[in-house]
Amino acid sequence: MPEADTSSSLILPSAEYEQSYRAYIEELGDDERYPFPLDFEHDDFAALLRRLRDCADGVGLPDGFVASSTFWLVDGGELLGVSNLRHELNDVLREHGGHIGLGVRPAAQGRGLGKRLLALTIRQARRRGIDEVHVHCNKGNLASAGMILANGGLLQSEGPYGHAGEIVQRYIVINR
Ligand SMILES: CC(C)(COP(=O)(O)OP(=O)(O)OC[C@H]1O[C@@H](n2cnc3c(N)ncnc32)[C@H](O)[C@@H]1OP(=O)(O)O)[C@@H](O)C(=O)NCCC(=O)NCCS
Repeated sequence: MPEADTSSSLILPSAEYEQSYRAYIEELGDDERYPFPLDFEHDDFAALLRRLRDCADGVGLPDGFVASSTFWLVDGGELLGVSNLRHELNDVLREHGGHIGLGVRPAAQGRGLGKRLLALTIRQARRRGIDEVHVHCNKGNLASAGMILANGGLLQSEGPYGHAGEIVQRYIVINR
């Protein structure tokens, strides 16, 4: 695998990346979108940015949702990855979802950006005083498990989740 790219940085969602965001969604095509804010309507980009800010402020959240911050990994004007940091856990997230959901743009996968995005988001969790970061992945998602292990993840438990009985692996990263 090529060396991890360390020139990328983590930013809050910004209008500057509208074009790159649209290209990212296009590139995902029918793939499932991780993390969930990538499913938000984005035709009106300013409204999308407002909605993301509201999510971070805990405004207008659907039932069962906790406040969460969305971060973008960017480099050279390109949006390369997206993470979502839940500010706290509830019973559902403790079981499946954890503190952090993230994804890297398909064309940019496999060159260390997932590891970097997770590391930078864990740093944001530290700023919020989250000293045990729960990160989950489906068993069999080897890239995700590799990324979590590379960030010091310790496997806590695994078990079936949801109707399809998929196996979720629950890791904790000690963040003190
Ligand atoms: C999971 C994801 C974020 C990983 O990002 P990435 O940039 O592709 O991963 P990285 O290049 O940082 O690699 C992470 C680790 O996984 C390994 N890895 C990467 N792709 C792999 C693959 N297809 N099979 C097995 N291992 C793989 C890497 O070798 C690396 O481990 P290492 O440190 O031992 O070398 C990315 O694949 C993705 O966006 N997938 C779709 C969405 C998703 O599954 N999100 C996670 C939900 S929990």
